[in-house]
Amino acid sequence: MRLSLPDALTRRGPPSTGWSALLMLASLALLLAAVVARPELHMIFFAVAAALAGLAAVQRDRMRDRDRSLSVGRAMIEACDRNGVAALILDDAGLPQITNRSCADLFDRLALASHLTDAMQGAPEATTVTVPDLTGQARSLMLVALPRGRRLAVVQAAADPLPVGPADGRDALLQLLDAVPVAMMEVAADGAILHANPEARRLLQLARDPPPLDELLEGLGLPIGARLTDLAEGRTRGGTETARQRRVAKEAYLQLGLRLAGPEFGDRIIAVLSDATELKALEAKFVQSQKMQAVGQLAGGVAHDFNNLLTAISGHCDLLLLRHHRGDSDYGDLVQIRQNTNRAAALVRQLLAFSRKQTLQLSVFQLRDILSELTHLMDRLLGANVTLRMVHGQDLHRVRVDRRQLEQVVMNLVVNARDAMPAGGEVQVETRNTRFETETVRDRARIHAGDYVQIDVRDRGVGIPPDQIEKIFEPFFTTKPPSEGTGLGLSTVYGIVKQSGGFIFVDSSEGEGTCFTIYLPAYTGPAEAAAEPDALAPIIRKSEAGGTILLVEDEVPVRSFAARALQLRGYQVIEAGTGEEALEKLADAPSAVDLVVSDIMLPGLDGPGWVRAALESHGPLRVIFISGYSESVLEDRELGLIHTRLLQKPFSLQDLSDVVADQIQSGKMTEIEPGARGFMVQ
Ligand SMILES: Nc1ncnc2c1ncn2[C@@H]1O[C@H](COP(=O)(O)OP(=O)(O)OP(=O)(O)O)[C@@H](O)[C@H]1O
Ligand SMILES: [Mg+2]
Repeated sequence: MRLSLPDALTRRGPPSTGWSALLMLASLALLLAAVVARPELHMIFFAVAAALAGLAAVQRDRMRDRDRSLSVGRAMIEACDRNGVAALILDDAGLPQITNRSCADLFDRLALASHLTDAMQGAPEATTVTVPDLTGQARSLMLVALPRGRRLAVVQAAADPLPVGPADGRDALLQLLDAVPVAMMEVAADGAILHANPEARRLLQLARDPPPLDELLEGLGLPIGARLTDLAEGRTRGGTETARQRRVAKEAYLQLGLRLAGPEFGDRIIAVLSDATELKALEAKFVQSQKMQAVGQLAGGVAHDFNNLLTAISGHCDLLLLRHHRGDSDYGDLVQIRQNTNRAAALVRQLLAFSRKQTLQLSVFQLRDILSELTHLMDRLLGANVTLRMVHGQDLHRVRVDRRQLEQVVMNLVVNARDAMPAGGEVQVETRNTRFETETVRDRARIHAGDYVQIDVRDRGVGIPPDQIEKIFEPFFTTKPPSEGTGLGLSTVYGIVKQSGGFIFVDSSEGEGTCFTIYLPAYTGPAEAAAEPDALAPIIRKSEAGGTILLVEDEVPVRSFAARALQLRGYQVIEAGTGEEALEKLADAPSAVDLVVSDIMLPGLDGPGWVRAALESHGPLRVIFISGYSESVLEDRELGLIHTRLLQKPFSLQDLSDVVADQIQSGKMTEIEPGARGFMVQ
């Protein structure tokens, strides 16, 4: 037969100190016998040790008993604390014995003690007492009896009805359980729910006849059933863990605290529950963002090395192509190598975009202009049964972006929208000005206060299931067949938007559609003289003028290709593998160096570092930097170099010779701009 909680209160179990006392008596007897029989000295020593061990055991058992008898009370005041409710345990003299933090914040301990001892003189076991808090406001404390003369006191909200019965302390304990604004249950060791307070019933949506606890909840580590038996059999002391709710449609988590109710209650267990769904979601987001960061770092690192390899492959292929004419039997194979290198380079660019480590060619634009020019291409991509609708806001702010990258962002989103509407429909691209008056937090991102230009790309397609929405920005996450999607589209979008100082969010409901929202910071700086020439426009070949070029690159295959390419174009090339070597070669150069072509990342002195030193010691130079990395890398070092050109890896023979000819003919000398921040790409 099961005891109810009030019954259990009256039940007196055998003293758990019995065995320890017996042990102590046996040790003393042994000691006596040892002394009377004049044994060896070590026998006496053992006997004394045994006696001490017995004493220690008694003491330990006493402490454990005391501890266990406080279990229910402790569980309650801790649970109250988590909900900001002040609660405390009073000893048999009415003095505060254990207070929770909310209680310590609300009352002066001494004043509380004196009020309580006065008020409890002759008061029934269960009662209410009014005590002023630190601000002088009267607070009503509900008191109920605990075993061994102790009492539990909980501060009631002003609106709480008094749940305490006339004088019956045991019933009051159950009433207290029901009155505490925290989900609590009394559970048997086999998981049967003996009593659940209204909060617990609401949280678990319990019916009149609740199933056992382990059918309601699933432990994330140990099964709930095993936790209960371990606790009841004294193998653990309980604690709080997260559990998943089994019988609900949505993913829901609870924090489940389990404690033994104490010896007076048999093997009953008090379960304290609180909703942990939000906490769990936050944790999942945190793990996700860490993962994204790790993948980003990895992708960035791999991409950097790949760019060096691809530059060497495509460069040497270009050199070979110079020697093979169209009619040549090898020509076709070489063209194949070159095309595949270009494809690999495009893939690496996407990885770099995701890891936000690509070079952005930033310029100030009107978004409307970029999107309008893209309309034709988007229409073609969308096909016959999907239409595009553009809606532009009035007087849009300008934005400072990399035009080509932003085009890629919009294209990727529009193509995804198309794919989400296999039966056709409309993709809407809408722009407008948006202002955040204060810092705004959305999906863990902090949007600084200020002006933004908002771009919405909306479709009425299949939508994204909630369990996938967290993953869509991950590289290689795709729900499309291998031939149709690489899963790099959105990760590229994410990287570009982030690197441009913007934010991207997604709203989606299954079967109804999806809306991606981008906020790009409005450009408020001075008007730039003119936007950069259209990067897509064909580069006009310059006639090669000849001259001496100092080529600084630590990757030997890249350097050997670049040197040969430049020599073929009629330049004298001085090669160096490090910044230090470059400074030496510059000092020893037999003739004036017309141009420096230097990698940015070099062992020892990096590109910008040695160029600064050279400008100071040697005087004006024309400079081209080669980068496999990003503008942010340069900004971090506060370069302040102006009139330099940037050539991004991987580059072809044509790219290299065009940029070199261009820079030599421009006549612009690189200068150090004191105090300037950032790298200016012209
Ligand atoms: N507008 C959308 N509606 C529904 N699902 C979408 C939408 N946009 C993206 N998704 C989902 O996100 C996944 C990842 O998109 P992402 O653009 O990164 O890769 P992909 O489109 O599958 O492949 P890729 O863009 O590399 O060709 C898609 O496979 C799809 O499941
Ligand atoms: Mg895509």
